[in-house]
Amino acid sequence: MSLTPAPSPPPILSNTKPRKTQTEFSAASYFATQPAPPTLDRDVASAREWVQRQVTAGRRVVLVTSGGTTVPLELNVVRFLDNFSAGTRGATSAEYFLSQGYAVLFMHRQHSLQPYSRHYSHSVHPFLDVLELEHEPAQPEPASPETAPSIPAPTHDQDEANIDPNAQITVRPDTQAHLASVLRAYKRVKRSDALHTVTFVTVNEYLFLLRALAQDALSLAGRGALYYLAAAVSDFFLPTQKMSEHKIQSGKGTLNIEMDQVPKILRPLTEDWSANAFIVSFKLETDMALLLPKARQALDRYGHHLVIGNELHTRKHQVVFVSRAEPDGRWVRLERTEEESGKEIEELIIQELVLQHSQWIAAA
Ligand code: PMT
Repeated sequence: MSLTPAPSPPPILSNTKPRKTQTEFSAASYFATQPAPPTLDRDVASAREWVQRQVTAGRRVVLVTSGGTTVPLELNVVRFLDNFSAGTRGATSAEYFLSQGYAVLFMHRQHSLQPYSRHYSHSVHPFLDVLELEHEPAQPEPASPETAPSIPAPTHDQDEANIDPNAQITVRPDTQAHLASVLRAYKRVKRSDALHTVTFVTVNEYLFLLRALAQDALSLAGRGALYYLAAAVSDFFLPTQKMSEHKIQSGKGTLNIEMDQVPKILRPLTEDWSANAFIVSFKLETDMALLLPKARQALDRYGHHLVIGNELHTRKHQVVFVSRAEPDGRWVRLERTEEESGKEIEELIIQELVLQHSQWIAAA
């Protein structure tokens, strides 16, 4: 990588063959040259103890990766590149794995969606909107643009003065049944110790965590371990040796960023770090015509068990399972009526995976 403010012309985003200044990282050289996250040992030790408890309890263990990784542009990071993913796929899938009796090691991007709390996320379904305050004065009708200025918003001081310390907070009646069922499932899982979370932000943290969890913690589960790699992982990064220490300064023209390729970690995961586990990866494309070929290519290249292909805009109602047994893919789709009734495609995905994992264990 080089970070050089270029006078002109403006850079064009393009892929090129590595130049002499670029390093081609193998997984081994990546881990030998990039710094391990400071919390790695602690995270892995607590995950190892947790996996041991799950194995003792006779549970299968799934590692769900979820959310997008970032690539910092500075050591004292102000700017970074991000990969698209809200964490919906991972968080939703984790719930269905738990309902099927799996223990879930949920490795997610910090602040992305999480199992159970995802139902009341700030953007989709704000939690405060499901609550009501007893004896609250009736709310005025929403103001139209013309009348809005004539209704003054209550000041913070007025709000404070009106506080009734005995006021009861209740859940809106039309939300109670749903919230109760989410809460019941969440409490049951907490009591059972079947969910453990670890977080990452950068692609570096993701890679170090994945390798260490695979080699150390997950290996305890043997063939009962399943990898469900739904995170969106950066393909390019800046090695720390080439990073600017401080915030990149503006005012010197355009910025050229030349990034190195992140080594593909699915192959070492399949061959070395976790040779005994059932490994499922996701493939996201925006061009439908590329989905099947790219999913097949990933399967051939990395030698793992299954690729689930999804297209950006249709990913919530259809995915395609590509395996060596079904190289042309098998589509799994939600019917329109199922979608309208609130059914989620992850329920179908996990049902199918549990079946395939069981058959694979039995075949061994
Ligand atoms: O969270 P949502 O908003 O619901 O979105 C979910 C999703 C669309 C992000 C998810 O369903 C999905 O498709 N995730 C995979 C995204 C993707 O295609 O990433 P990729 O092409 O960079 O990687 C594909 C696979 O290769 C991944 O399993 C990854 O582990 C692997 N990979 C990636 C980078 C890398 N350096 N080495 C790898 O082995």
